[in-house]
Amino acid sequence: MEKAYLMHGGDYNPDQWLDMPEILETDIERFREAKINTVSLGIFSWAKLEPREGVYELDWMERIINRLYENGISVILATPSGARPHWMADRYPEILRVNAMRQRSLFGGRHNHCLTSPVYREKVQRINTELVKRFGDHPAVKMWHISNEYGGECHCPLCQDAFRKWLREKYGTIDALNDAWCTAFWSHTYDSFEQVESPSPLGEESIMGLSLDWRRFVSDQTIDFMEREIDALRRAGNKKPATANLMYRFGGIDYYKQAEKFDIASWDSYPTWHREKEWETAQETAFWHDVIYGLKRKPFLLMESTPGATNWQEVSKLKKPGMLEAAALQSIAHGADGSMYFQLRKSRGAEEKFHGAVIDHYDGRDTRTFQEVCAAGNMLELVGEVAGSHKEAKAAVLYDWENCWAMEGAKGPRNEGLHYQESVEKSHRALRRLGLNVDVIDQRCPLDGYRFVAAPMQYLFREGFSEKVRRYVENGGTFVLTYWSGVVDENDRCFLGGRPHGLMDVFGLRAEEIDGLYDWEENRICRKNDDAVKELGADRDCAAEGQRAEGVVRGDGRKDGYACKYLCELVKPTTAETLMVYGEDFYAGMPALLRNVFGKGRAYYVCADAEQAFYDDLYEKLVREAGIERIFDGQIPEGVEVSERTKDGASYVFIQNFNRHRVQVALPEGSVLYGRADGCLEPLEGVVIRKN
Ligand code: GAL
Ligand code: ZN
Repeated sequence: MEKAYLMHGGDYNPDQWLDMPEILETDIERFREAKINTVSLGIFSWAKLEPREGVYELDWMERIINRLYENGISVILATPSGARPHWMADRYPEILRVNAMRQRSLFGGRHNHCLTSPVYREKVQRINTELVKRFGDHPAVKMWHISNEYGGECHCPLCQDAFRKWLREKYGTIDALNDAWCTAFWSHTYDSFEQVESPSPLGEESIMGLSLDWRRFVSDQTIDFMEREIDALRRAGNKKPATANLMYRFGGIDYYKQAEKFDIASWDSYPTWHREKEWETAQETAFWHDVIYGLKRKPFLLMESTPGATNWQEVSKLKKPGMLEAAALQSIAHGADGSMYFQLRKSRGAEEKFHGAVIDHYDGRDTRTFQEVCAAGNMLELVGEVAGSHKEAKAAVLYDWENCWAMEGAKGPRNEGLHYQESVEKSHRALRRLGLNVDVIDQRCPLDGYRFVAAPMQYLFREGFSEKVRRYVENGGTFVLTYWSGVVDENDRCFLGGRPHGLMDVFGLRAEEIDGLYDWEENRICRKNDDAVKELGADRDCAAEGQRAEGVVRGDGRKDGYACKYLCELVKPTTAETLMVYGEDFYAGMPALLRNVFGKGRAYYVCADAEQAFYDDLYEKLVREAGIERIFDGQIPEGVEVSERTKDGASYVFIQNFNRHRVQVALPEGSVLYGRADGCLEPLEGVVIRKN
């Protein structure tokens, strides 16, 4: 068996340099020095691989793969569907995308093929087949990189037909569709499936059921496209794993569904480092690492990250010394089995010539970036034994794609700035700060095994979700649900009979109204004047029940209680106990935080979009109450990330300082694989310990 190692490398485009063969040799030399062991090859090479229709020229690629292999470098081989040759678009315009205004694109750009076009699907499957036949058994090829960052949508006639077919399969009859979409509203009833058109500013945008199904269809169609690509590889004899590089919430694909179809999850991470607080960016990045890990609950790959500045963000900020290594280590801490870059060598012209790369136009090894890459290579080698280890979590945060689509589409309590993403991240952050591994899961994932689950803003309840939550709480789990939850079903139809639908007894309350606040407005969440929540917000005591807290300013100038913004829900408790109350407005004194004991568990309900400190304090108490063990007992200073991976009884603890100042941490007992053993961490420094 191959020794466990972490991948280090990135996107490599030697096809841009075929007329300068010495470049490949220089690159290989650099790769070896930087301990680069893997390259992603051929992502945008189609025009070189099939210069004329049906004429495949793969010799150049074979030469490159062989040279890499001779030098101990592995290949993640790409299918080239992310961009296509000119001849194809000229001969088959149906492969070009049509936008919502029903305009067909010209040739150009990338990531913009029709998702349905039988011609495009066939062309892709053919080239994929050729690639497997030639390289599938090559010992250098370890994995397949399917396309590149799938995303976007196409409104062409072929896609319209496919959408209608998808709807027919889903609903059977047009009456069922009309019912599900509530089309009686404004007399928008459909007489037949043929009348259905995708949402468009020129036509229908007022039926949320349509918009939601369109998004599901686009997601399904993209996943189907990917599946056909993988299938073509398999039919040609491929036995190696496939991955598709994901990109934040780019393109609206339901990643949890997509993940069922590939073998290994991977993503492209482009944080805007060096803003005000480094550790806030680190936490945002941590959130996405945890999303990607959660897709398969298996080690993933950081497929792309920039070695220097990007050239597409608002400002092309250089990575300060140490940042590259810290970002690489952070991905490993969260469950990556490799940390890779875009790109290994800078292209000479066109759109990305100023994008950061391991090897610069200058070519030499004495660049700051190259030295940083070498340092990261060393680090990845030192911690190589963690490859294949898992990330176990007792706490989870729910983040659901369909819920997100539905909320964004609905005209509701705030039409700009619902802050769903932020509210999920606040819960994630509060748990991470306690030194816990956290899974990010969707409504379909099982809850067994978790002791604490936070579910912010679950506006849409998928079929079966409320029953799952009920069972989870009944069996002793702690569940936190927030405002604007259990409002609609999977067709964006409001539940009748009160919300949160199906869970009013579990949470012991009924949510009645929700107040959208102006951006400048703020309310407060204050301690009720009794002993129920002694610990939570003890130093933030404010208005007595029913009393207005307006203008209550403490000696230190801070207003009492916790600030809340954007959305304040008003609920009527039945069996729930009110723990905290609103401090201001006509609902001052009404419940803002409630707890209901249900079965063996506890159900908490948060009524408003509270500031981070609220979640930090609340979750600290709830995690303690739920008896969840932290990764280690030491005090974790603000801005320090702690994670753990486990394998065959071994446990690896990662501690990283994302502050701009030095911190001192009491390290757990064990052997230090990487970093200093004295617990003193300079800015961006990290340490990895194998616990005894
Ligand atoms: C990624 C993309 C790469 C490259 C990179 C630049 O999103 O997959 O091909 O364009 O961005 O940052
Ligand atoms: Zn199309």
